[in-house]
Amino acid sequence: MERTLVILKPGCLQRGLIGEVISRFEKRGLKLVAMKMVQLDEEILKVHYAHLLDRPFFPWLRDGMMAAPVILCCWEGYSAVQVVRDMAGATKASKAVPGTIRGDYSLHTPHNVIHASDSDESAKREINLFFKEDEIIDWHDENAKWF
Ligand code: PPS
Repeated sequence: MERTLVILKPGCLQRGLIGEVISRFEKRGLKLVAMKMVQLDEEILKVHYAHLLDRPFFPWLRDGMMAAPVILCCWEGYSAVQVVRDMAGATKASKAVPGTIRGDYSLHTPHNVIHASDSDESAKREINLFFKEDEIIDWHDENAKWF
């Protein structure tokens, strides 16, 4: 089973969309194995977005991610990385198709609601960055056989 990291961005919390977004992943059959609310700081964002440090939009991305707390979630399931990316929709919010999270709830990229790991390798790195090993709970999902 794969695991992936989802960050519900500050705008998601401010707009009261947390329940809606989490519900979509639950209904799809993904298993929530870790979740917490945190106020991100510049230090961790520079590690998380290390590949984007020299991009002109980095200051907006950094400040936007620190504008309010975020909800960090680790989801587990079959092909979880790709399934969650597909559910998130295109990074560029205005291109995200209806039915996806970004396509339903965002218009402009800085407010694209969630971050989702883009590969299995990134997912492992990001989960390790944001969660301690004992914060991830390998519980038995009674419903798993139905998905
Ligand atoms: S890249 O490298 O140009 O293809 O970047 P991309 O994959 O499109 O986006 C990488 C992350 O940067 C965020 N992003 C922005 N944030 C704020 N303002 C602007 N203009 C902007 N453009 C891109 C984008 O949402 C990605 O972050 P995550 O957290 O994955 O959504």
